[in-house]
Amino acid sequence: MRTVYWDYDRQTVKMIDQRKLPFEFIVAEFDDYREVARAIREMYVRGAPAIGATAAFGMALAARQSNAQTFLLMQDDLKNAGKTLETARPTAVNLSWAVARQLDVASKDEGSSVQDIRDSLLVEAQQIADDDVALNRRMGFNGAEQIAGGDTILHHCNTGALATVDWGTALGVVFAAHEQGKKIHVLVDETRPRLQGARLTAWELQQRGISFDLIADNAAGHFMRTGQVDIVLVGSDRTAANGDVANKIGTYKLAVVARENGIPFYPVVPTSTVDLSLANGDLIPIEERSQEEVLNAIDRPIAPAGITARNPAFDVTPHRYVTGIVTESGIVYPPFVKNLRKAVEQSRQGAWRDGPAL
Ligand code: MRU
Repeated sequence: MRTVYWDYDRQTVKMIDQRKLPFEFIVAEFDDYREVARAIREMYVRGAPAIGATAAFGMALAARQSNAQTFLLMQDDLKNAGKTLETARPTAVNLSWAVARQLDVASKDEGSSVQDIRDSLLVEAQQIADDDVALNRRMGFNGAEQIAGGDTILHHCNTGALATVDWGTALGVVFAAHEQGKKIHVLVDETRPRLQGARLTAWELQQRGISFDLIADNAAGHFMRTGQVDIVLVGSDRTAANGDVANKIGTYKLAVVARENGIPFYPVVPTSTVDLSLANGDLIPIEERSQEEVLNAIDRPIAPAGITARNPAFDVTPHRYVTGIVTESGIVYPPFVKNLRKAVEQSRQGAWRDGPAL
């Protein structure tokens, strides 16, 4: 089942409510793009590629909700909807990438009727969702060449099927290696404060029968220093033109400790997550979420009442700690400024579709 999809009978957007997993499996349904934006903000759906596809479906909903009778009035309504959707979460560039793609489609042909626009936005959203699954499979295959039988992989946050439309990014590499019959083990960072590792990654690995242990985030350094980790795989919410990688808070610390211990560190990043307009990672907006997420764990207080907390949701890993970046166009190595741009261009030309059947 896909994380997010369009229900063609009911003309609604449906998504797995990830806030409830692994304890309850609930599919939420939306017929208003503003509610879709709220679902992104409140993390019913999360993970950069998943929220990109969700925003694309949200734009298709907005076109259906609009009462505009003319091409130009429809453009105004879609631009407003786009602003609401893309500001729901600031760090993952996939949101504004998907909105921009939909606005391009909507404005391409001034001769289009409003109904044509409604139809083409749904077709485009479906294409974004289908491509996400296919290119994740390709990235998984590309990244799996770095995994040998017997490897232990350290993983942060959730980057699996739930973080995408299906299959996953960094966890997609794990799934591909497992599918190839490599005997692997995963150390799963619990990933405080939202516990995406404990709740979601552990759930996905258990369902696939892949060997893993859940670890407290604070234990990762110990496992790396004592030679119990062969490779670190993470995702990204936005990667700058120079290869600086924004990802779930705690990723930077992992990268530094990996370098200190000679362990390769590979972010797995679809090119839709690469923002060539930003020269470096200092320009990436970092979402700061509610203090309540730090002051509570699974809705129960864990600290004295009345205190304050800080809660940046992401951090930036400078590219000097990055061994290589796995994309659908292959693994990109330094110099990232030149080679990432090349990978993005190759992907825009659809080169990743030509690889061996998977
Ligand atoms: O706050 P989240 O759960 O949306 O953060 C998700 C991550 O940080 C993932 O690593 C990232 O989106 C890339 S993997 C699909």
